[in-house]
Amino acid sequence: MTPTVIRAHSAETWVETAAEFCASTISEAVNRTGRCAILLAGGDTPRAVYERLAQEPFASNVPWAQTVVVFGDERLVPPDDARSNQQMAHRALLNALPLPPEHILAVDTRQPAAAAAASYESMLRTFFHLAEGQLPVFDLVLLGMGTDGHTASLFPEMAAIDETTRLIVATPAPDPAGPARITVTLPVINAGHTVLFLVRGADKAPVARRVLRSADPADTALPAARVQPTAPDGRLVWIVDEAAAAEL
Ligand code: 6PG
Repeated sequence: MTPTVIRAHSAETWVETAAEFCASTISEAVNRTGRCAILLAGGDTPRAVYERLAQEPFASNVPWAQTVVVFGDERLVPPDDARSNQQMAHRALLNALPLPPEHILAVDTRQPAAAAAASYESMLRTFFHLAEGQLPVFDLVLLGMGTDGHTASLFPEMAAIDETTRLIVATPAPDPAGPARITVTLPVINAGHTVLFLVRGADKAPVARRVLRSADPADTALPAARVQPTAPDGRLVWIVDEAAAAEL
């Protein structure tokens, strides 16, 4: 699928463009099906977009009560740890919104990684009433990208990127000193209706070129390059700032 690349010409425009895109996608999904299921990205980049979505007009105009939130990946750290993706999302967005608590599917990070992945997958299967082999279809999948081309916690040359049947798997982080993680798998991401990469900063420019412009097998093998939504009316969109787009 050919990605749509939206270039924002300032930091403020990048945030506003991303927030408006998310808001309209959520509203369209709720108008179409009565619900919107969102897969949230972690890391630092989305924070400003989440904070903007918690402000007006989005706080009032987006049908948050019909929205379900799932975390695309999480580090196995205590909930109050600064590295927690869930903590970031709650502080930046979720605490300010009228989402029913049962619409926020929390990762239990008190368990060992494999158990945490298995229980989160079980929670997804139950919540979305998935038959064996059935994938959840997220209306909006939010992703960031690392400078190594990882996305969610699917890292280059690690086993999780090649998982084809599980929805959620445990994976070590490349940094051996870092916490283990759980992550959605590529089939779940690619089943998404709208997949949106939020990428900004000069440090992401080289890998953005590799993912978006290169046919080199070493580049097309990068996790972010393997995000190729398969839905018939699916969308793959990148919202980038000028710094991240410098090599495109
Ligand atoms: C995570 C994220 C990860 C993130 C990239 C980019 O848990 O770290 O899910 O995929 O999106 O590492 O991180 P930054 O946005 O902080 O650059």
